[in-house]
Amino acid sequence: MEFFDVLARRHSIRRYLPKKVEEEKINLILEAVNTCPTAGNLQAYHVVVVRDEERRRRLARACYNQEFVYEAPVSMVFLADPMRSARRYGRRGMVLYSIQDATIAATYAMLSATALDLGTCWVGAFDDDKVREVVGASSDLVPVAVITIGYPAERPEITERRKISEMANMEVFGRPFPHKEVKKELIRS
Ligand SMILES: Cc1cc2nc3c(=O)[nH]c(=O)nc-3n(C[C@H](O)[C@H](O)[C@H](O)COP(=O)(O)O)c2cc1C
Repeated sequence: MEFFDVLARRHSIRRYLPKKVEEEKINLILEAVNTCPTAGNLQAYHVVVVRDEERRRRLARACYNQEFVYEAPVSMVFLADPMRSARRYGRRGMVLYSIQDATIAATYAMLSATALDLGTCWVGAFDDDKVREVVGASSDLVPVAVITIGYPAERPEITERRKISEMANMEVFGRPFPHKEVKKELIRS
């Protein structure tokens, strides 16, 4: 799939078919994640692949009972490792770079899964301690995102965005960028 089509196709999927995600696809997603940029190439994040039914049930509970977290056959839990980044970058590594590393990694996972015809949803509403407990992570790791992955059982809702001229500024903040639309159609399969 062409890269811009992947971006246009990706929308949150919150209903999944009870169909296994092929091992090869999971491995490909992890390989894609492992290419992502990280501060100082320190890769200050970890990912836990959750497929076990009971663990998915507990993960959904930790995500304030978002049922689709259980329904998705796979979830990838991205954990920032602040101390790994802090060793070189001090406080900035701890509070910013490690979180960014994990966020970028999770984004790579979402987009690669989309390219493989899978649906995903970024889940950020969860109890940190409970997520740590479910995936056996120590208290020095920070859960940043739970990415649900599976074959969609719904067509994605096309969500609105604010105008690019509202979001993008030219040279200085507050001066709108004079954006001219290039890509007309969102591509849906
Ligand atoms: C940081 C973050 C946290 C989110 N948390 C949740 C969540 O807990 N539950 C959920 O259903 N969707 C969650 N979402 C998905 C957003 O609701 C969704 O991306 C947004 O509405 C845009 O829709 P789209 O993904 O379909 O384009 C989250 C997204 C982000 C980036």
